[in-house]
Amino acid sequence: MRNQLAEARRERRPLGAFTCYTLDTAAGVLDAAESAGAPVVLLVSDAALRAPAGPRLLTALVAMAQRAAVPAWVQLDHCPDLERIRQALDLGAGGVMADGSRLDDAANLEFTREAVALATPYGAAVEAELGRIEGDEDIDVAAAAGAFTDPAAAEDFVRRTGVDCLAVAIGNVHGSYRHEPRLDWQRLADIADRLPVAVSLHGTSGLPADQLRRAHELGAVKFNVNTELRRAHVGELRRALDEAPASTDVLALTERLRATAAETTGRFLRP
Ligand code: 13P
Repeated sequence: MRNQLAEARRERRPLGAFTCYTLDTAAGVLDAAESAGAPVVLLVSDAALRAPAGPRLLTALVAMAQRAAVPAWVQLDHCPDLERIRQALDLGAGGVMADGSRLDDAANLEFTREAVALATPYGAAVEAELGRIEGDEDIDVAAAAGAFTDPAAAEDFVRRTGVDCLAVAIGNVHGSYRHEPRLDWQRLADIADRLPVAVSLHGTSGLPADQLRRAHELGAVKFNVNTELRRAHVGELRRALDEAPASTDVLALTERLRATAAETTGRFLRP
């Protein structure tokens, strides 16, 4: 994943990253990536790893990623805890996002450096966040933009931490946008020009296609998607249960959920 991020930065090649809470979703994401011939990241949210079945989920996703016909990795997303970062690396995650964005800048720097030291022996990629991407990472709440990433501070942060990827706050939020999304394009371009590593855009759900294309043109290369996959998953589940309330055909249900995830993913693979 480290090499892929470096290549993404060098060649401005987009890398989609999709949150998978279930194996149906992961199967659909991988099918879409294989159809597009695109490398892909399966994200595991920190809450998902903390859940009782979390370690089993991550382990299963690693196996699925390893057997995919395209390069694929599992990344632990938005984790503020070094022990869980270690756990994910032990279970085979190819990348982790060390999220120190709730700390002050000095503490975020120290935390991120520790995460890089932890990940280095595994050869795993580390992504960090500077500024604050608001919104909930697992449930749909409408959020307004948080503190924006400062370009000069980002350059210094990346140099001093050695991260492979930086998530930027330029008006993007997780979940639903409370107001029309208005991204700070100049800021994104400044950051992407200054940084020697990949820039990632979180909160991709809800951004119109032309804004995604613009973000990519200006230098964002990693795109994280969760909310739209979740909505599609729950919507399809609801439809299927409404259509046949008495059915116990889990296999048919699973197939619908896989197909829904594949369709949603396909729309994001090429910004
Ligand atoms: P959305 O839920 O808004 O797509 O954001 C996903 C994300 O950034 C995961 O890190």
